[in-house]
Amino acid sequence: MANLQINLCGLTLKNPTVLASGILGDSANALKRAADGGAGILTTKSITPEKKEGHKPPNIVSLKELGMINAMGLPNPGAENFSKEIEIFRKQSETPLIVSIAGKTVNDYLKVAEKIGNLGNVVELNLSCPNIEHGMEFGQSTELASEVTKKVKEIVNVPVGVKLGPNVGKIEEIAASCEKAGADFITAINTMPALAIDLEKEKPILTNKTGGLSGPALKPIALACVYKIYKTVKIPIIGLGGISSGKDAAEFFMAGASAVGIGTVIYTKGPNSFKIVCNELSEFMQEKGYANLNEMIGLAHKG
Ligand code: DHB
Repeated sequence: MANLQINLCGLTLKNPTVLASGILGDSANALKRAADGGAGILTTKSITPEKKEGHKPPNIVSLKELGMINAMGLPNPGAENFSKEIEIFRKQSETPLIVSIAGKTVNDYLKVAEKIGNLGNVVELNLSCPNIEHGMEFGQSTELASEVTKKVKEIVNVPVGVKLGPNVGKIEEIAASCEKAGADFITAINTMPALAIDLEKEKPILTNKTGGLSGPALKPIALACVYKIYKTVKIPIIGLGGISSGKDAAEFFMAGASAVGIGTVIYTKGPNSFKIVCNELSEFMQEKGYANLNEMIGLAHKG
């Protein structure tokens, strides 16, 4: 096995695979399944101040080999209830946690950060949820993105990153404004707003009408975003969007990612997706003679 260890914001991870937010992240049990599947670090479901039920089904559309569109509507147990899940998880696993936070206002982010921000190892601000009202606004404005970053940084003791989406003018400018406001890392990218139509019913399939596109169709878009952000900021990037193999992960490292998120593929290959990606990545590195991941990060920017 090649050396897959990385350092992310001062944390040593056994491997660079990150459970993406939204999958297996809403309870201690689900998080444990991802930890057992081999993830290097786990991102929770985005947590809001109060419990949220989310959108009614249909809330997922499969696009087969292209991926899927989902509009869950951020169902989550709320900050108070989720703090208990984190406590339970902590007793079961040593795998570090990224606590993901979502909100409609700066105050929402601050409330959740105050309650559970320090219970994980890292905080990620979801500034790009496509499925709730105002969910993407923070990630579409350099002013709002930096304001929320700065204020959350003031009240938590752990590293704070921001998760950005592709549906913006210049993602690298948003990333740069967050770095300036004190962000410790960037996660790129969230899902892309998308639609599927039911031809028989002559209307959108999802109850929310639009949803977020994830999976293989998102990969080239995500790679372009990571590539542009790497040119603009110095803080590490967690790259994600359609990664389902070791070679997919290698593309993200070469584009500039320091770690890679795994999400949609878990629906088809299960929690062992982390082990699968790590084994394939290790094989690729050995074949090519890369001694460690640092040798690969940003390679596509040379020459
Ligand atoms: C949801 C939230 C997201 O940030 C996303 O990318 C996709 C779906 C949701 O819960 O609806």
